[in-house]
Amino acid sequence: MEQELAEETETQEVTPDAELAAAIMKRHLRPSLIKSEAWEGYMFSDLEIKIKESTDCYGAVLWPSAMVLCHFLETNQENYNLVDKKVIEIGAGTGLVTIVCSLLGAKVTSTDLPDILGNLRYNCSRNTRGRCRYEPHVTELTWGQQLEERFPRASCRYDYLMAADVVYSHPYLNELMETFEHLCSEDTVIFWTMRFRMDPENRFVDRFRARFHLEELYDLPSLHIKLYRAQKKVSGSKSHSGAAA
Ligand SMILES: C[S@@+](CC[C@H](N)C(=O)[O-])C[C@H]1O[C@@H](n2cnc3c(N)ncnc32)[C@H](O)[C@@H]1O
Repeated sequence: MEQELAEETETQEVTPDAELAAAIMKRHLRPSLIKSEAWEGYMFSDLEIKIKESTDCYGAVLWPSAMVLCHFLETNQENYNLVDKKVIEIGAGTGLVTIVCSLLGAKVTSTDLPDILGNLRYNCSRNTRGRCRYEPHVTELTWGQQLEERFPRASCRYDYLMAADVVYSHPYLNELMETFEHLCSEDTVIFWTMRFRMDPENRFVDRFRARFHLEELYDLPSLHIKLYRAQKKVSGSKSHSGAAA
């Protein structure tokens, strides 16, 4: 058991790549060419989710990592029941993960940089109003900044932290790590989809592994994406199996 814990990445039932990737990509609906407003459609929880994008910046585009995470959450509700759970999403972008978590019954705090929040709020409101137990709360979280002031550890305890495609060639990887560490208690379960691009940023996974128990849930080479489940390492702790479900 101790040996297992010391092992950094465990591979559990990695599903065949091509079939799974195709099932995930089918969630993206092709909108009709004639429409009054630009949006992309996605199908989760038997509902059509309309996402407004913009090509201005990374946060205004929906990335495949978000679809991978949403597919996992929707198809693993028995193992990870989000009803009434406290969830925080970092780098939420256009909001698909936040929306799907809300449709699955969670109380979600959805965060990103200030410039992203207008579109994120619009997408969240449009897709969750009247459809969810709890409408998501959208607020700024700039990685590494004012963490204790805005998200005090004593009162902000989350069952789950969601992160889709937050590691790429930006200069805030240390701040991102600090944010993961600040927001997670020993019970918080992280679901993180990592899109592998360039070596320098890919090494973030090894740094992350030094601080969190990391378990690989999906490996999708055709999309260059892995989905991890992670939990903070606690000194002296012997178990990391305490899912919040
Ligand atoms: C590649 S996008 C992924 C967006 C969304 N999670 C998805 O998968 O579609 C990365 C996200 O991280 C956010 N981000 C980048 N740097 C950030 C920072 N320093 N603090 C907070 N968010 C940041 C961006 O605004 C963007 O929404």
